[in-house]
Amino acid sequence: MFLASKHCKNQSRTMISFSCSASPKLTSILALLLILVTMIQVNGQSPPGFISIDCGWENSSAYLNGALNIVYSSDVWFVEGGQNHQISPEFIEDAFNGQQKTLRSFPGGSRNCYTLPSTAGKKYLLRAMFTYGNYDRLNKTLDGSLFLFGLHIGVNFWEAVNLTNWDPSVTVFKEVLTVAPSNSVSFCLINFGSGIPFISSLELRPLQDTMYPFVNTSVSVSYFKRCRFGNITDPITRYPVDDYDRFWESCTFTSYPFINLNTNKNVGSLPGNNDFNVPSAILQQTSTLDTNYSRFSINVASAYNKDALSLQLLPIFHFTEINGSNPNRRFDIFSTGEVLFQGFSPSPLQVDSMYKSGQFLQKGDTFFTLDKTPGSSLPPLINAFEVYSLVQMENLTTDFNDVYNIKQIKTHYNLARTSWNGDPCWPREYSWEGLTCDYSKSNQNPRIVTLNLSTSGLGGRFAILLMNMMSLENFNLSNNKIDGPIPYYILQRVQAGLLDLRLEGNPVCSNNKDSYCIGKKKKKRRRNTTPILLIAVIVPVVLISLLVGMCILWKLYWKDKSGDNENYAMYEEETPLHIDIRRFTYTELKLITNNFHSIIGKGGFGIVYHGILENGDEVAVKVLMETSIAESTDFLPEVQTLSKVHHKNLVTLQGYCQNKKCLALVYDFMPRGNLQQLLRGGSALNFYECFCQA
Ligand SMILES: *[C@@H]1O[C@H](CO)[C@@H](O)[C@H](O)[C@H]1NC(C)=O
Ligand SMILES: *[C@@H]1O[C@H](CO)[C@@H](O)[C@H](O)[C@H]1NC(C)=O
Ligand SMILES: *[C@@H]1O[C@H](CO)[C@@H](O)[C@H](O)[C@H]1NC(C)=O
Ligand SMILES: *[C@@H]1O[C@H](CO)[C@@H](O)[C@H](O)[C@H]1NC(C)=O
Ligand SMILES: *[C@@H]1O[C@H](CO)[C@@H](O)[C@H](O)[C@H]1NC(C)=O
Ligand SMILES: *[C@@H]1O[C@H](CO)[C@@H](O)[C@H](O)[C@H]1NC(C)=O
Ligand SMILES: *[C@@H]1O[C@H](CO)[C@@H](O)[C@H](O)[C@H]1NC(C)=O
Ligand SMILES: *[C@@H]1O[C@H](CO)[C@@H](O)[C@H](O)[C@H]1NC(C)=O
Ligand SMILES: *[C@@H]1O[C@H](CO)[C@@H](O)[C@H](O)[C@H]1NC(C)=O
Ligand SMILES: *[C@@H]1O[C@H](CO)[C@@H](O)[C@H](O)[C@H]1NC(C)=O
Repeated sequence: MFLASKHCKNQSRTMISFSCSASPKLTSILALLLILVTMIQVNGQSPPGFISIDCGWENSSAYLNGALNIVYSSDVWFVEGGQNHQISPEFIEDAFNGQQKTLRSFPGGSRNCYTLPSTAGKKYLLRAMFTYGNYDRLNKTLDGSLFLFGLHIGVNFWEAVNLTNWDPSVTVFKEVLTVAPSNSVSFCLINFGSGIPFISSLELRPLQDTMYPFVNTSVSVSYFKRCRFGNITDPITRYPVDDYDRFWESCTFTSYPFINLNTNKNVGSLPGNNDFNVPSAILQQTSTLDTNYSRFSINVASAYNKDALSLQLLPIFHFTEINGSNPNRRFDIFSTGEVLFQGFSPSPLQVDSMYKSGQFLQKGDTFFTLDKTPGSSLPPLINAFEVYSLVQMENLTTDFNDVYNIKQIKTHYNLARTSWNGDPCWPREYSWEGLTCDYSKSNQNPRIVTLNLSTSGLGGRFAILLMNMMSLENFNLSNNKIDGPIPYYILQRVQAGLLDLRLEGNPVCSNNKDSYCIGKKKKKRRRNTTPILLIAVIVPVVLISLLVGMCILWKLYWKDKSGDNENYAMYEEETPLHIDIRRFTYTELKLITNNFHSIIGKGGFGIVYHGILENGDEVAVKVLMETSIAESTDFLPEVQTLSKVHHKNLVTLQGYCQNKKCLALVYDFMPRGNLQQLLRGGSALNFYECFCQA
């Protein structure tokens, strides 16, 4: 994983042995064609799902790496904090690739994370590359001190980057195969106090779900070595030869008695075998021995990786018989002294990938031997191999909803806190400042339970999303400049004793004597929730009894008319529209409008209510109560038309409710003036209203 020829150490062994093989041409590869084209054009070029980031690249327009046909973009959308740098001029020319010329360093904060969009549950390859290039002119890799920082994949430790004693021109890459825990994958750089972490490029590549079957939500694997054999000129084979853009190092044997074979014939895998999808071009090339020899060894140990002995490794060997005469070739595969596979014979023109799924070698073995069996007429061959180390994904990310909401709150209040990046609760030592989490349920994702945003200079309205943070028990917003109404749902939770809210010292409290506005701490306030609970229980009970009583009286009185007010749920129509807007039930409308609590507009057509969706979005709910309209068969086609209308002067239709007793339209909520205007003006709406009332 170090890309530089000068550091290869020759391991001399009595057996024919292979060790580090990087080619001297390495530094000159990829004479980059930086074709700068517009975003729209370049977007069409990149393979689907590839996220390719040139860290520290300051130009907001992406560029096409012509040699790779991959579009790289700046990292500004994926990370906060850090500083952009360029490597020292003397290293620019020979940089491993164009992305290595700039980097982002993180002198501030102990953890800095990149967040990359992903699909929950899908497998990905994530590759990070590091070229120091003496960007700070401090010769940090060669000044005799330790230069070491850590990498996390999500909330778990992945690997350390150790650049101590390396030439500044060296490029290091790390790859991990992992399953996305949610709709984003986070990757973090950890400051160990031994040099400022930095990164040059970051790449995310989707894999197929069938690939690397031993990788799952609790097991990720980190690249240790990936080699291909044969007569190869490129030191690294990657995309577009490999659809998944894996880095296959050229591990060509050059010394006699090695023989490289190749074929033009198509080499495939057994139908249904999609475990590795090794590119055909790699399987068409192989290395074997002169027939006088019987075995060779592969040593993947690295002098620089002191941790190797404590790693649990998983080797995968890829073999294909490409000698057209289909000879008798049979061999055993050993890991140090222990046999891994016995009497293996490669299939002609078909890949055999030999690995023990989920069985990681416990000893950190890095020495593999392929040995001809006594009955075999030909020595062993090899096309490619991969070695991975185990990364335990033992720590769980914070509850998905909590993460979403706290990030929205961060945006809403424009909070710029160094520690507020990456996962809020894990790992514990890097949890966000000002919040605490509940880790007590060990098999469940941690939840955020307290949030202290006191004296943080927050202004404006209440973050509506707070109402979705159901696990929040303690919320201190004292001494800020928060104004505007406290959302009903939050008050409800406060009154029920579920949330301890502190608002003293905010404009919203200027005329408010409620307990959450009075700064003095009442003794044992948190524990002493009984009165609140009593109120919370007794008041509704009394109210409900009253209501039930009234209902009975009312029903008796209006017995003959009661049919009109029966449960609306019974009347939900069964003709869903084939449009992508949401269909609401009457019950849902009741819920989001808080039982049609707040009227924001009235007209001949009906009443418009304020509502809040589950995701916190505010909406205007226009309810048409006229039975005659409800019977109109033209309502649905009209909704269909409206749903397609998107105009800057029109509110967007979010959804509708169709029910024998009521029809309703749900729009995005707009500031009052606008809303009135929109409900009255706007051709599409007028059209609709005329239509209905006709
Ligand atoms: C960014 O790239 C575009 C497109 O090549 C170029 O026109 C522009 O000058 C660059 N901007 C900066 C600040 O380098
Ligand atoms: C870094 O190394 C170069 C050459 O080895 C030397 O000229 C320079 O003074 C060094 N810089 C520092 C800050 O040590
Ligand atoms: C899990 O989290 C704990 C506590 O933060 C930490 O000590 C441990 O190293 C983490 N495990 C991994 C695999 O990162
Ligand atoms: C980092 O590399 C240096 C130099 O090779 C070595 O002395 C040191 O032990 C390594 N540290 C770790 C934690 O691998
Ligand atoms: C290796 O391949 C190159 C072209 O890719 C060819 O010129 C050369 O002769 C080959 N070497 C051997 C030993 O086959
Ligand atoms: C291989 O064996 C044959 C026959 O035994 C011999 O003639 C040849 O010189 C040997 N080649 C090498 C490289 O030892
Ligand atoms: C291919 O197989 C034949 C025997 O079937 C053998 O004589 C020949 O040496 C093999 N070629 C290589 C390059 O291994
Ligand atoms: C993940 O795979 C490992 C073996 O690679 C297995 O032991 C473990 O049970 C799997 N975990 C899940 C959650 O599937
Ligand atoms: C809450 O945050 C404020 C401001 O950051 C700090 O001064 C205070 O000590 C914190 N309170 C607690 C209980 O952590
Ligand atoms: C809220 O924060 C303020 C300022 O840090 C502190 O004085 C107060 O005690 C806190 N209240 C609670 C309930 O934690």
